[in-house]
Amino acid sequence: AGYWTYDPGFMATAPVESKITFIDGGKGELLHRGYPIDQLANNAEYLEVAYALIHGDLPNAEQKADFYEKIRKHMGVHDQLRKFFEGFRRDAHPMAIMVGVVGALSAFYHENLDISNEEHREITAIRLIAKMPTLAAMSYKYSKGEPFMYPRNDFNYAENFLYMMFATPADVNYKTNDVITRAMDKIFTLHADHEQNASTSTVRLAGSTGANPYACIAAGIAALWGPSHGGANEAVLEMLDEIGSVENVPEFMEKVKSREVKLMGFGHRVYKNFDPRAQVMKETCDEVLGALGINDPKLELAMALEKIALEDPFFVERNLYPNVDFYSGIILKAIGIPTSMFTVIFSLARTSGWISHWLEMHSTPFKIGRPRQLYTGETHRDFVKVEDRK
Ligand code: CMC
Repeated sequence: AGYWTYDPGFMATAPVESKITFIDGGKGELLHRGYPIDQLANNAEYLEVAYALIHGDLPNAEQKADFYEKIRKHMGVHDQLRKFFEGFRRDAHPMAIMVGVVGALSAFYHENLDISNEEHREITAIRLIAKMPTLAAMSYKYSKGEPFMYPRNDFNYAENFLYMMFATPADVNYKTNDVITRAMDKIFTLHADHEQNASTSTVRLAGSTGANPYACIAAGIAALWGPSHGGANEAVLEMLDEIGSVENVPEFMEKVKSREVKLMGFGHRVYKNFDPRAQVMKETCDEVLGALGINDPKLELAMALEKIALEDPFFVERNLYPNVDFYSGIILKAIGIPTSMFTVIFSLARTSGWISHWLEMHSTPFKIGRPRQLYTGETHRDFVKVEDRK
C-alpha cells in the first residue's frame, strides 16, 4: 500500500513541469518554446533552434553570432580522445562508440563539472552540442579506416558534419551540395526535442541524482538506441530490405496484422494524428530525391506502404500514421549515409533537447527520480540451509 499508482510505461504520469516543448498529439501539433515545428524547420537553422531550446527565445542577431562563435570554437575534440576510438573494433556499431566516447568526455573536463555553477552548466551545453558532429563523424571514419577530419571554421554546423563524414585529406576542395546541407540541417531541427520521451526522461532521471551532464547524455544515447525509439529509422531501412519489392507488400501487411512484426516508422505514443515532423520530412524527402535525381525503388516501396497504412482499417482504427523516422531514413540513405549512422544522427540532433531539459531541471528545484513498484514476488519466508533445499 502507498500513495503511488501503478502506471506501466508512464502512460498517465507527468513527473515534471517544463516550458520547453508542447505537443498536442490529437491535433498533431508540436511547438518548441511556442514556435511551431514546421516554421522552425523551414525558416530557422538548427543552432538557432538549439539556442531557443536552451534560452527560451530565438536569438537576436548579436546573440546568434555569439552562440555560433562559441559552438565553432568548441567543435574540436581533445587529441587524446582519438586513442579512445582506437580501442574499439573497426566493426563496432557507431552507437556503441558514441555511448562510450560521450560518457568519456566527463574525464576531459572535470574542471568545469560543478553542476551547481551556472557557467559550468552553460559551457558543458556548448561543448556537447559543438562536439557531437565531430564525434559522430569520427565514429564513421573509424569504421571506414579513413583518417579523422578536423572541423572547419568556414563551414556551418551541418556542412561541417557532412565534411567530416565524407571528405578526406586528399580532397581539399570538398564542398557539399546546398540542398543536402539544408536537408541535413532540417533533419537536425526536426529531431531536436520531443518533451519527455524515453531518452529525455532517462537524461532527467540520471540528472536527478546529480550525475555529471556528459554521463547523463551518454545515458540518453543508450536509451535512444532501441528500435522502439531512435533505432526506428535504421529499422525502417532494414524492413524495406526485408520486404524487397512492392509485390511483397500484401504478404508483409498480413504479418503486421497478425502481430508477427511491426510496421517500423509508424505509430507514436503521443501522436494519434499525423506527426507534424513527418509532414516536413516528407517534403524534404521529395526535394532531396528531386535534386539528386534519385529514383529509388526503396522510395516506391515506402510510398506503397504509406498508402496502404493510411487507408487500411487496421492502421486507421489504431491511429497509426507515419512518424518522423519513416522519411528521415529514406533521406539519409539518399545522401549516402550508411544505415548504422542513422541513430547516431538522431542522437547528435537530440543533444540540444536533452541538454535543455537537463539545464531546465538544474535551474529549478527538483527531487531525485525514484519510481515505486507493484511487488509480485514471494511473500515472507524463512531461510533454509543449503543441504535442506529441494
Ligand atoms: N505496426 C503495427 N501495429 C502497431 C504499430 C506498428 N508500428 N504501432 C502500434 N501498433 C498497434 C499495437 O499492436 C496496438 O494494437 P492492439 O491495441 O490491437 O494490440 C496498437 O497499435 C497500440 O500500440 P501500442 O503498442 O499500445 O502503442 P505504444 O504507444 O505503446 O507504442 C511505439 C508506440 C512508437 C513504440 C509503437 O507504435 C512502435 O513500436 N512503432 C514502431 C517503431 C517506431 O517507428 N518508433 C519510432 C517512434 S517516433 C521517433 C521516436 O520517438 O523515437
